[in-house]
Amino acid sequence: MEESTNQPAAEATAGAGREPHTGAGEPAAAGGAARKPSVVLGVSGGIAAYKACELLRRLTESGHDVRVVPTASALHFVGEATWSALSGHPVSTEVWTDVHEVAHVRIGQGADLVVVAPATADTLAKAAHGLAGDLLTNTLLTARCPVVFAPAMHTEMWEHPATRENVATLRRRGAVVIEPAVGRLTGVDTGKGRLPDPGEIFEVCRRVLAAGARRDLAGRHVVVSAGGTREPLDPVRFLGNRSSGKQGYALARAAVARGARVTLVSANSALPDPAGADVVRVGTAVQLREAMLKAAPDADVVVMAAAVADFRPATYATGKIKKRDGQEPEPIALVRNPDILAELSAERARPGQLVVGFAAETDDVVPNGRAKLARKGCDLLVVNEVGERKTFGAEENEAVVLGADGSETPVPYGPKEALAETVWDLVARALPPATDA
Ligand code: CTP
Repeated sequence: MEESTNQPAAEATAGAGREPHTGAGEPAAAGGAARKPSVVLGVSGGIAAYKACELLRRLTESGHDVRVVPTASALHFVGEATWSALSGHPVSTEVWTDVHEVAHVRIGQGADLVVVAPATADTLAKAAHGLAGDLLTNTLLTARCPVVFAPAMHTEMWEHPATRENVATLRRRGAVVIEPAVGRLTGVDTGKGRLPDPGEIFEVCRRVLAAGARRDLAGRHVVVSAGGTREPLDPVRFLGNRSSGKQGYALARAAVARGARVTLVSANSALPDPAGADVVRVGTAVQLREAMLKAAPDADVVVMAAAVADFRPATYATGKIKKRDGQEPEPIALVRNPDILAELSAERARPGQLVVGFAAETDDVVPNGRAKLARKGCDLLVVNEVGERKTFGAEENEAVVLGADGSETPVPYGPKEALAETVWDLVARALPPATDA
C-alpha cells in the first residue's frame, strides 16, 4: 500500500463539509474535545462476515466510533459477543430492542458513514427497494450520510439481472457499491464475488468520509488507464517504461470515493487492486487500446494516465534472441503504436463524454502542453513537470491542468491523491447533467 491505513480519523473527516453527529444524533459540542466520526458497520449474512471483524478493528483503531448492526443471519456466522467486544457497544439486530431509544431511527440519523460489509444479494435488494424489516434496513433508510456497500456473493448471484438492477439503483442514488474481488468463494468455486480485502474497504471508507458531501461522480462511469505498456521483443524481453501506475490508481480510488463506477485498465502495475474498481489487466499498447475501446462506449469520462510506448518492435521472436560469437547484434526495427488518446478523443463513444490526457514535459510546460492538447483533441490535459525530484514512481508531483476551453489550473507540488481530486473537481464541473441511464 502507498500509505498508512491507520490515518487519523480527524484527517479522514477533513473537508467533509458537515458537522459530525454524536451517536445520539446531536451535533458535537462546540469547543469540546473533537468527537470521533460515527460509523455504522452493517453486516449481512454471508461467510465473509468474519472479514468484517478486521474492518471493524481498523475503523476503531483509527479513531472511529463504530456501531455494528448485523442482520439475524449474520449472527449465524459471527456472534454478538464478538461484535460487541470489538466495537465497545451493545449489538442488536432488530427494532424491538431498547425501543425507548428509538434505535431504528437514531443509529442511521447519527452516522457520518454507513458501510455494509459483506452486503449480500438479499440486503442489496432490500436496500434498493426501501424495505425496512430489521434494524440494518431501518438504519439504511434513515441515514443521510454516505453509504458504502461491499457486496460478497456467488458469481451467479452477482451477475443476475435482479442484482445488477439493484446495484444500478443504489449507485444512481449515490451509494458507493464497490466491485467484488475475483477469487476463491465459499467451497471450491472461484469467480467474481469475493469480499475485497478489509484494508481496501477501510481505504474506501476513509476516502468517502473525507469526500463527505462531494458525491459528484455518483451515477457516472469512469474509465482510467494506469501503469506503463510493455512491448515484447522475445519471450523474455520487452521495451517498457518506469511508470508505477500510482497516479492512475489514485484517480481510480478517488473516483470510487466520489461515487463513480470505475473501470481501471492497468498496464503492468504491481499495485494492489483498488477496492471498488473493476480492474482489467493488459500488457501492450495494442491490448490497452482494445480494453479502452471496449470500456469507452459506456463511459462518461475516459482518462489516459498510462504511459503508452509510442513504438513497438516490428517483429516478435518466438524464441529467445541469442548472441552469436563474432557477430554484431541485429538492430531492432520499430513500428508506431496507435495513439489511443487521440483516437478516443476523435471518436467520442458517447455525446458529452469527457476525455482527459496526461503529459510529461521538462521545458516550456504550458506552451508544449497546449500544443499537445490541441494535437490530441482531449478536453483536459494534465501536464506533469518532470525534473529532478519529480520522477516516475514518486509519491508526489506537480502539474498544471490545461483545458480545451483555455483554462489553466496549477496544482502545487503534493501527493498524487491531491492531483487526482483536482482532476475530478474539474471533470465534475465540466460533465453534462447525468441522464437516467
Ligand atoms: N498516449 C496514447 N497513446 C500513445 C502515446 C500516448 O494514448 N501511443 C497518451 C498518454 O496516455 C497520455 C498522452 O497520450 O495521456 C500524452 O502522452 P505523451 O507520451 O506525453 O505524448 P506523446 O504523444 O507520446 O508525445 P511526445 O512526443 O511528447 O512523447
